[in-house]
Amino acid sequence: MDRTNGFDAVAWYYDRLARIVFGKSICRSQTCFLGTLSATSNILVLGGGTGWWLKEFLQKKPGCRILYVDASPAMLNLAKKAVGDDKRITFRLGTENSIMEVHEFDAVITFFFLDLFSHEKLRDVIAGIKIALKPNARWLVSDFINTTWWHACMLSVMYFFFRISTGLRNKSLPDWTGLLLAGNLRVLEHKMFFGNFIKSGLYQTTE
Ligand SMILES: C[S@@+](CC[C@H](N)C(=O)[O-])C[C@H]1O[C@@H](n2cnc3c(N)ncnc32)[C@H](O)[C@@H]1O
Repeated sequence: MDRTNGFDAVAWYYDRLARIVFGKSICRSQTCFLGTLSATSNILVLGGGTGWWLKEFLQKKPGCRILYVDASPAMLNLAKKAVGDDKRITFRLGTENSIMEVHEFDAVITFFFLDLFSHEKLRDVIAGIKIALKPNARWLVSDFINTTWWHACMLSVMYFFFRISTGLRNKSLPDWTGLLLAGNLRVLEHKMFFGNFIKSGLYQTTE
């Protein structure tokens, strides 16, 4: 996207809108694999948004540490409010380009983040994220997939909405599952939600 803080404009109603459109499916897709992360993981969250799940997650996994990166100051502020003063989380205003850490994280979480990029750009984004991961790291992803006509219709409406509300430039869903596999990640498990429109995958780096 051009204006990386474009999600400021939608931050205050983002979760409510998602709930209206998708019911509990978005939340379920985001939380379904969190329990698989090991108890002392060092986790990178990219494009985390409001971080509504953070507090409960850290109650269940008190030994985890999180670097929480988002390009929108408003989203980041909401996430900070959601957890309060918690030394286990470092909040960083930035993008995938702000990750300078090398082989540092046991896991990365990208919920509805990969869909922000064009297919070509996403290849590089995935390669960049992998540099920050330890060998055999976990990658938790939830995102849309496009396998039928109504998926395509909903995606057109959503990309149009985010174009006018946030300035998002990408207009179509990248083949993120294909690119993760091409990037030498293997699927350990996956789950489908909302009429197979949302896919959550638990991936692992193989190198
Ligand atoms: C579609 S929202 C998803 C939010 C959250 N992960 C969720 O599933 O509810 C995308 C989020 O990514 C952030 N974002 C957009 N471009 C980004 C980038 N290049 N790097 C980091 N965050 C970005 C936005 O500010 C927003 O919070």
